[in-house]
Amino acid sequence: MSLSPRVNMAAGGPEVSRLAYGAWRLLNDGQSADVQRVLALIQTCLDHGITTFDHADIYGGYRCEEAFGAALRAHPGLRQRMELVTKCGIMLVNPARPENRLKHYDYSRQHIIASVERSLRNLATDYVDVLLLHRPSPLLDPDEVAEAQRQLVQQGKVRHLGVSNFTPAQFEALSSRLDTPLVTNQVELHPLRLEPFLDGTLDQCLQRRISPMAWSPLAGGRLLKGEGEPERRVRAVLTELARQHGVELEQLVYAWLLRHPARIIPVLGTQRPERIRSAARALSLHLDTQDWFAVWSASTGAPVP
Ligand SMILES: NC(=O)c1ccc[n+]([C@@H]2O[C@H](COP(=O)([O-])OP(=O)(O)OC[C@H]3O[C@@H](n4cnc5c(N)ncnc54)[C@H](OP(=O)(O)O)[C@@H]3O)[C@@H](O)[C@H]2O)c1
Repeated sequence: MSLSPRVNMAAGGPEVSRLAYGAWRLLNDGQSADVQRVLALIQTCLDHGITTFDHADIYGGYRCEEAFGAALRAHPGLRQRMELVTKCGIMLVNPARPENRLKHYDYSRQHIIASVERSLRNLATDYVDVLLLHRPSPLLDPDEVAEAQRQLVQQGKVRHLGVSNFTPAQFEALSSRLDTPLVTNQVELHPLRLEPFLDGTLDQCLQRRISPMAWSPLAGGRLLKGEGEPERRVRAVLTELARQHGVELEQLVYAWLLRHPARIIPVLGTQRPERIRSAARALSLHLDTQDWFAVWSASTGAPVP
């Protein structure tokens, strides 16, 4: 039985696809901002039910949103067929931001609003479905974020607010001041990073009935190529399970994440259309409980207690 290709991120929406596509690597390895290449990636995602696209202002040294937006400008009808997620708050030292003397975070009301307005221009859209605060900051003032959220939602520029890389305590502190609930926490989550299963992050998502987003679901490729002990152990188990199921190793990793009751949304990072097509097939791959724990135990290096 296949999983539904759509999911409500939170009770009040948004509805998103069960797999999301991340734009972080869009301009990696000297890849050009070629509109046709970006369009082909977008089209492959849409053709396979992947309608949720994950961005951040900083991706590609502040250039990825614009490369994606150029594709939407060329085919404006595509915007209605997708949900856009973007992030703000990380301030990079970069020629595009000469005012940044060192890497830092800024969650002032002014910065959040200015960052969203710039993202909207870059992405060639009037609104984003979800705005994420990219990383927690010791200087984050929940009241100030609430003010920014109120204004952006009222103006129709942002539909929902979420966070990324927040601890449950940081999530709760911010939530306590907001008019509308946070809809997700996007965290690094894959078989080589089990902390979110253990530190309350996923429990909080279950409690609040929100879907977490899993960034770097393949550990940035380390699961397939890494040479450390945990990588080898996990890869050996995944390889055997993939053989038994007759699927690709990465499909098994996505299925492992999808199996969790918090309704995790893996964010794909591949630049290859054939790997997007293959990832979409993970929705029809069911891992039984013992297979799931085989991957877990390969990661920890021991049976569960
Ligand atoms: N919120 C945050 O702080 C944060 C941080 C990092 C990332 N993210 C989000 O998460 C998204 C995904 O992260 P990620 O790119 O690290 O994801 P990932 O899926 O863990 O890694 C993708 C990388 O693995 C490589 N890879 C090797 N073998 C592969 C295979 N068989 N199938 C697929 N990929 C394979 C890909 O290369 P090929 O292109 O050659 O396939 C690509 O370089 C980002 O785009 C971004 O949207 C968020």
